[in-house]
Amino acid sequence: MKEILEQLEVRRENARLGGGQVRINAQHGRGKLTARERLSLLLDEGSFEEFDMFVDHRCSDFGMEDTQVPGDGVVTGWGTVNGRCVFVFAKDFTVFGGSLSETHAEKIMKIQDMALKNRAPIIGLFDAGGARIQEGVAALGGYGEVFRRNVLASGVIPQISIIMGPCAGGDVYSPAMTDFIFMIRDTSYMFVTGPDVVKTVTNETVTAEELGGASVHTTRSSISDGAWDNDVEGLLQVRRFLDFLPLNNTSGPPQMEAFQETTGYDDSLDTLIPDNPNKPYDMKELVLKVVDEGDFFELQGDFAGNIITGFGRIGGRSVGVVANQPMVLAGVLDSDASRKAARFVRFCDSFNLPIVTFVDVPGFLPGTAQEYGGLIKHGAKLLFAYTQATVPLVTVITRKAYGGAYVVMAAKHIGGDVNYAWPTAEIAVMGPKGAAEILYRSELDDADKIAARIEEYEERFANPFIAAERGYIDEVIMPHSTRMRVARALDMLRSKTDDRPWRKHDNIPL
Ligand code: HXC
Repeated sequence: MKEILEQLEVRRENARLGGGQVRINAQHGRGKLTARERLSLLLDEGSFEEFDMFVDHRCSDFGMEDTQVPGDGVVTGWGTVNGRCVFVFAKDFTVFGGSLSETHAEKIMKIQDMALKNRAPIIGLFDAGGARIQEGVAALGGYGEVFRRNVLASGVIPQISIIMGPCAGGDVYSPAMTDFIFMIRDTSYMFVTGPDVVKTVTNETVTAEELGGASVHTTRSSISDGAWDNDVEGLLQVRRFLDFLPLNNTSGPPQMEAFQETTGYDDSLDTLIPDNPNKPYDMKELVLKVVDEGDFFELQGDFAGNIITGFGRIGGRSVGVVANQPMVLAGVLDSDASRKAARFVRFCDSFNLPIVTFVDVPGFLPGTAQEYGGLIKHGAKLLFAYTQATVPLVTVITRKAYGGAYVVMAAKHIGGDVNYAWPTAEIAVMGPKGAAEILYRSELDDADKIAARIEEYEERFANPFIAAERGYIDEVIMPHSTRMRVARALDMLRSKTDDRPWRKHDNIPL
C-alpha cells in the first residue's frame, strides 16, 4: 500500500515538472513564471484543486508516441480568489510550447463546462504557440469546441484572459471572445499571424512586439483592457480585479465592507469646474472622490482617453463607471471612445452591475476621418448599449452635454433612472459659439454683434435649468454632495426591474 501511495507522489512530481527543468529554466530566463507558479499566485494559498494532471496526448505522428508529457501542456482546475470560487486553465509553454492538441482542448472544455454549470468565473492564462502542429485537424476541432463554449458562457459567467507569453493563431480567438484581456508588457504578444507570415504575405518587416505586444494592444487596437510589467504584478492585479465582479449573471454585484461612509460631503468638488468653460479639468478626480476609498479599477486607460471606463464600489457594492474626460480631446465622443464605452456598458448590463455616468461632452468629433471610419455606427453602439441596459443608470452632468452626445450619455430619454446635473451644467443642442454662428450667419462680419449673440445664447441655454424644468434632469445638485446623492440613488434602485419584449436577441450595430 505504502509503495502505491509513493508511486502516486512520484507520478505527480513528474507531471509537475512539465517539459523538464531545462525548459523551466528557459521560461524563468525569459522573465516568465511557469503555469503552476502563476496559478499559485493567482489563487488563494493552498486552494488549487488540479484536474487531469495525467492526461496524455493521443498523437502517433511525427514520433509523438515517444514524447508523452503528463498534463499535455495545460494545467487546469479550480480554486478560490479571496474566498470566491473560480475555474482556471494555464497553458504550460514548457510542454510543446503550450500548443493545443485534441486532449489539451478536452481539458479546457471540461473546465469551461464546469465553470458554466457552477456559475463561477473562468480565467485562462495564455502562453502558447497555437495549434499543435503534429495533430492537424484534431487540434482545429479542439479550438472550435473551446470557442463554442466561450460563446455559450458569454453573459452568464465572467471570462477573463491573461496573455503571459506568445498567443498566436488559434489561441487568439478564445481570449477575443472573453470579457476581458490583460497582457504582460514585453513578454507577451498576440496576433493571428506572426512576423514571418506577415513578411511573406505583405512584405512588411515587424517584430513580434511591434505586431502584437502589449504596447500595441493597449493603445492602438484596444484588444487588451490593461497591461502590467511582470507576471507577479499582473496576477495580483487580476485578484484585485475579480473582487469587483459578480460570480455570474444572477448573483448580483459583490458586497464588500465599506470603510468610507456615503453621507459625507466633499467641498473640494465645488471648485472642480474652471470658470472658463473651455478649460479642461480632470474628471478622474471626481470619479475617485465618488467611489469608496478612491479605489477605481480603470479599463483601457491607455486607449481613447477621452472616455473613462472602470469599476469602483459605492457603499461597498460594485458599480461600473463611465465618464467623459475633458483632459483628452475635450471629452469629445469619437469612434474609439464610443466602442470602448459601449462594450463596457454591455458587460455591466449582462452582469447586473449598476452604471454611474459622469457627463462633460461637447458632442461627437467632426471630420472626414471619423465619418469615413464609421462614426455613425460606432456612436450608435454606445447609444444602443445604454438604451438596452436594464441595470440601474445614474447620471451626473457636470458641465457640457451637447447635442446627440447629451442623449447618448445615459440621458433620461434613453433610460437614465436618476439624472442629476451640477449648477455648472450646460445642456443644449450645441455650444453657444457654434449656435450663434449658425443662427446669425449674416452678422458674422460684425464681431461685437456676434459676441452679444453668443452671450445671449449662453445666458439662455448654458445652464441645467431648462432641462430641469422639463423633468429631463431630476435635480440640480451641489457638487460636494455628489457621492451621497449617487449612493442614495443606487440604494433606491436596488430592486429595479425593467422588462423588455421577448426577442431572440437584439441586433446591435456591430
Ligand atoms: C507544436 C510547438 C508549437 C506548435 C511551439 N512548439 N509551437 N509544438 N506545435 N504550434 C514547440 C517547439 O517545437 C519547441 O519545442 C517549444 O515549443 C518552444 O518553441 P520555440 O520555437 O523554441 O520557442 P520560441 O522561440 O520562444 O518561439 C515561440 C513561438 C514559436 C513564437 C510560439 O514556437 C512558433 O512560432 N510556433 C508556431 C506558431 C504557429 O505557427 N502555430 C500554429 C498556428 S496555426 P522544443 O521541444 O524544442 O522545446 C493555428 C490555427 C488554428 O493555430 C486555427 C483555429 C481556428
